[in-house]
Amino acid sequence: MPVKSSDITPQALFMQRRRMLGLGLASLSLPLASGLFADEEELLDPDAPLSLGGQAVAVNKPITATRLDIINSYNNYYEFGFGKEDPSQAPKTLITSPWSVTVGGVGVDNPGIYDIADLHAEHDIENRLYRFRCVEAWSMVVPWNGIPLAAIIKAAKPNSKAKYVRFETLYDDKQMPNANWAGGPYIEGLTIAEAVHPLTLMATGIYDEPLQQQTGAPIRLVVPWKYGFKYAKSIVRIDLVEEMPRNTWWRQNPQEYGFYANVNPKFNHPRWSQASERVVGSFGRQKTLIFNGYADDVAYLYPDLSDRRYFY
Ligand code: MTE
Repeated sequence: MPVKSSDITPQALFMQRRRMLGLGLASLSLPLASGLFADEEELLDPDAPLSLGGQAVAVNKPITATRLDIINSYNNYYEFGFGKEDPSQAPKTLITSPWSVTVGGVGVDNPGIYDIADLHAEHDIENRLYRFRCVEAWSMVVPWNGIPLAAIIKAAKPNSKAKYVRFETLYDDKQMPNANWAGGPYIEGLTIAEAVHPLTLMATGIYDEPLQQQTGAPIRLVVPWKYGFKYAKSIVRIDLVEEMPRNTWWRQNPQEYGFYANVNPKFNHPRWSQASERVVGSFGRQKTLIFNGYADDVAYLYPDLSDRRYFY
């Protein structure tokens, strides 16, 4: 089932519910209450191992939007360190203004260099409430603001050579303490059909606040049916190309990470199960859904759902 906006609790309401829940918990049995707070403490420990044991519980609905402070403090952005808290605690050295995104490659007839302010001026900013599923088996729900990638691609006038889209992110050791962790810029890619899909977004904000350094300011990719490593942060180049781009994680570890990386609970990561996910900022695990809940919208893009190639 695709996720409807009505399934997602806005942050303010969520906060209100939490307060009510907090009050209610006082009269409930201690194990439940301590379970809630234990998980919050786990959030503070970037090295906490994923707890992969336990029963998966089907609590996918209703969906609660993750709190902004949690979204902004539990991150993967290796250019700013390998720990979950490193990116938010790193000095604010990323210069996000001015910032330009170059759109080019053999697949476009109208290449261009766009200042981020021009992108904002030329395109409507849309709000999208999406599930977010990391390949490490944790998840959040994020209210993104951004520009559909299709609008940016359309403006570049794609031609028949546009088979794939390659994303390149900022690579600057003066602005990023761990810039060279992958031996070059972080690269990601999509097929052209995935890139122009209406769900695919170039995010510029979360909860109507601009993206922070740690969440990929000033512009990042969002592809809600794929694992989070596809969501390249702080993008400086978008190229429409003929060949499948070799993305960073595929290069790093081709046994464990591929190009498509569509979420699928039935295809486990070689080192852990993908059947369920830890809901960050909550106290439960929930069953993982194929295509992260967006199968009705995107399954047609993949001819063979039994082909592992599409799911890692
Ligand atoms: N983009 C860059 N440039 N560098 C990174 O290390 N990590 C990826 C992705 N984009 C990463 C990146 C991974 S593994 C994930 S899960 C998401 O960003 C995390 O996004 P979040 O920190 O906003 O939750």
